[in-house]
Amino acid sequence: MNAHQSLYSILFLLSLSLSHQSVLRLPSDHRKSLGPARGRGEDDSLYCDSWRFSVETNDAGKWSTVPSRCADYVRDYVTGERYVSDSSVAADNALEFARAVGASSDGRDAWVFDIDETLLSNLPYYEEHGFGSEAFEETSFDDWVELAKAPALPASLPLYNELRQLNFTIFLLTGRSEHQRNATATNMLRAGYTGWEKLFLRGDSDQGKPATVYKSEKRSEIVSAGYTIQGSSGDQWSDLTGFATAVRSFKLPNPMYYIP
Ligand SMILES: *[C@@H]1O[C@H](CO)[C@@H](O)[C@H](O)[C@H]1NC(C)=O
Ligand SMILES: *[C@@H]1O[C@H](CO)[C@@H](O)[C@H](O)[C@H]1NC(C)=O
Repeated sequence: MNAHQSLYSILFLLSLSLSHQSVLRLPSDHRKSLGPARGRGEDDSLYCDSWRFSVETNDAGKWSTVPSRCADYVRDYVTGERYVSDSSVAADNALEFARAVGASSDGRDAWVFDIDETLLSNLPYYEEHGFGSEAFEETSFDDWVELAKAPALPASLPLYNELRQLNFTIFLLTGRSEHQRNATATNMLRAGYTGWEKLFLRGDSDQGKPATVYKSEKRSEIVSAGYTIQGSSGDQWSDLTGFATAVRSFKLPNPMYYIP
């Protein structure tokens, strides 16, 4: 252990004992932090961490926009290394499962991927639109989709390629509409994704369906075609729940928006 490491050890132990004290004090602090927004500060940071947890666990249920007191917090999260790290750990979990379960050489083991905030990142768009703190604006988002410029989510491209190497058959299942097929496929190819089996988009008869229903129906089609859906990756609970679900589902982080 060098001097640096021992200094860190001491600081770590110190922080443990300090955080222990703050745990003991938590009940009153906690109540305070749940009160109405009172400008930015430590209370907001604590509250917004808890808010994000409730969103990721789906305890929050349906929500429309990021609470205004958490706007800066969400911006810092999605543009910082924490988001990349959280996504990477989810991808590692998925890969560990995929390797353990394996895929048969008949190509009947499938993996279903959502696209937005799963394989592609729309951060360049959300950067211009308040990172989820503003109401969703369909027209400007559709314009962005047509540009086909979304980069790959950094953790997902290696996972996608590894799954292909392992002989999983890849299905893309997105809430985007059929008229966005070309832009979506073009964007995927530009971002480095190749070799998917099929790209599902919402057709006319799918419009207006909750994402959970639409996505479950499409997964059912995959199962009916003789595939076993071993894994599924998505940033929304509606990508993963419902019926014809995967053996294992992997939730990627997304504190910017919620799709029922
Ligand atoms: C993938 O499948 C092909 C046959 O389709 C087979 O030759 C190859 O060994 C398989 N790879 C793995 C990792 O199972
Ligand atoms: C998109 O449409 C153009 C023009 O029809 C076509 O050349 C191109 O191959 C299409 N791209 C994809 C990825 O389907």
